[in-house]
Amino acid sequence: MIVMGIETSCDETAAAVVEETGDPQRPWRVASNIVASQTEVHREWGGVVPELSARQHIRDICGVVERALAEGGHGTFDAVAATQGPGLVGSLLVGLSFAKALAWARSVPLIPVHHLAGHIESLVLESGEMPLPAVVLVVSGGHTSLYRIERQGVYELLGRTRDDAAGEAFDKVAKLLGLGYPGGPVIDRVSPQGNDRAVALPKTRITHSDRNAPHLPGRRDFSFSGLKTSVLRQLNRRREELGLAPDAPLPAQHVADMAASFQRVVVETLVDRLFEAARWYGAQSVGIAGGVSANSRLREEALARGVARGLPVYIPSLSLSTDNAAMIAAAGLRRYRAGDVSPLGINADASLALT
Ligand code: KG4
Ligand code: ZN
Repeated sequence: MIVMGIETSCDETAAAVVEETGDPQRPWRVASNIVASQTEVHREWGGVVPELSARQHIRDICGVVERALAEGGHGTFDAVAATQGPGLVGSLLVGLSFAKALAWARSVPLIPVHHLAGHIESLVLESGEMPLPAVVLVVSGGHTSLYRIERQGVYELLGRTRDDAAGEAFDKVAKLLGLGYPGGPVIDRVSPQGNDRAVALPKTRITHSDRNAPHLPGRRDFSFSGLKTSVLRQLNRRREELGLAPDAPLPAQHVADMAASFQRVVVETLVDRLFEAARWYGAQSVGIAGGVSANSRLREEALARGVARGLPVYIPSLSLSTDNAAMIAAAGLRRYRAGDVSPLGINADASLALT
């Protein structure tokens, strides 16, 4: 079976062709994976502007899908999988509507996919099935969520952020530091020049359950907004000490020290919580997916912790860690094999839940 995947939940227009291999351990193969990034469109605004994003998806989607089909080498497909949510609703609608039209025109089934299920399945797409039960951390610009997987394709939410997502914290702190957008890659690049113990920053530990989600244990939740506020306060204090104006740039060394200290705290928090959950739930493997899994310190520390604990650690390569459609096609194949297809009347859902 060959699946066309389409992803337009945020600022990447992506299409991919993925085929089944027949090998139960490595069930899928990427035939093509095309991404048109909108980073340049949003850079001058310092973040993603939803309306500009939706309009750019409309401009890009035909060409991206055509290229995915041409490079996929088949010119044909047996189903279309598209991100139904969560994400920016105008952006989601472009990809989902395009997928519906494609499914209708080719008389093939439509498979709606949850964006985070896509990130989780990116791990399997690349490295083969994970030993189960597994605990997977999805860290992106919009999400920081921990999932337990006992059975393939069934994702149980263990915890999530109460406020900012990890990627969002990277983006906001980079902005405070005057490092530009998107923040994650710049902080990653600048941090090795700084001292990661130079600035004392708080590690938030949630101990109580959330009134809005009383079924979750709470202690597996994350919070990053206090950390961001602490960075802001310390930057202001440093400016006062140096007699600088409130928005004046700080010396490069101080910026690097702050970036490195911030990155250390975020990475330690993520890795600690992931491995704690793995121990708690008797996981046979752990995974990290989503844009922030591209972070070099996070990758190093998670892999080292895995070696120390004797647990295999699954992390996608850089091209599959940020948003792409190959992961959506893979998650679509998983759903299709579980008997999940949808009528063409389904709608996009900006806050679609994954259990
Ligand atoms: O998964 P993704 O491409 O899009 C969403 O679904 O949100 O994740 C984008 C996020 C952004 O916040 C970006 O700053 C962050 O991933 N990111 C990184 C790195 N590369 C991308 N964060 C830290 N270190 C990186 N190297
Ligand atoms: Zn994503």
